[in-house]
Amino acid sequence: MGLIPNVVNLVGPVSTKCVLDAGCGTGWLFEELDPAEAWQCDLAPPPTRRPGVKSTREDITNMSYPSDRFDVVVSSLVLMWVSDLATSLREFHRVTKPGGRLVVALVHPYFAHAGYVVDDGFVINRDVSREQELSDYLISGIVGPLTYYHRRPETYYNEALRAGWQLTQFLDWFVDMEHYEQFAADRRTTTRRTGWVPTFTFFVGEKYPDKVGASGSRHAG
Ligand SMILES: C[S@@+](CC[C@H](N)C(=O)[O-])C[C@H]1O[C@@H](n2cnc3c(N)ncnc32)[C@H](O)[C@@H]1O
Repeated sequence: MGLIPNVVNLVGPVSTKCVLDAGCGTGWLFEELDPAEAWQCDLAPPPTRRPGVKSTREDITNMSYPSDRFDVVVSSLVLMWVSDLATSLREFHRVTKPGGRLVVALVHPYFAHAGYVVDDGFVINRDVSREQELSDYLISGIVGPLTYYHRRPETYYNEALRAGWQLTQFLDWFVDMEHYEQFAADRRTTTRRTGWVPTFTFFVGEKYPDKVGASGSRHAG
């Protein structure tokens, strides 16, 4: 609902660009975008939903791509599942061309798995002030068990800055409940949502030609 249009919008026009979907999951991104070159990777072999998409199996903390390879790196709902946030953001910076961009989507750190929806709001029943590992976590009750790393939003931003990213856009997305009620009725979903707190948060980083950042030289070239 709010994820796909926001990621597509933050990525911007791509007809002449080389785009990497890092941690692509089901590979939905390239059903929405048609870049000059489409690359996707994940820990498991990614599914190809469209001809021409190049897929590799990668750990985002240690990718096999050469440096300065992509115009845009997209990381959608991935960084919450990665223990080494700093290395992931440095790897994204390394493989991005100078002048390129990073688009990150996260479930909102202060509200994801922090509590529950009630009729007149949202009750937080977990301490969101400190970093925590929620182990044996099942996505939608099905995928897993995985470890979810709860971090404060500032941790993501500060690590991105330390990795050399110039942060240029931030967006919190809230469910529009009128629209959601129709959407939920059509899909017979039982998930309870609220428009009182943000569901997703997004940020964009740019790699300026004059910013060296903290990218390693392991794959220089
Ligand atoms: C919640 S899914 C999100 C998938 C997709 N990007 C989306 O927006 O729907 C998280 C994905 O991150 C991948 N992932 C987690 N840790 C990873 C790592 N270290 N390297 C590569 N992919 C990773 C998982 O395998 C999973 O496919």
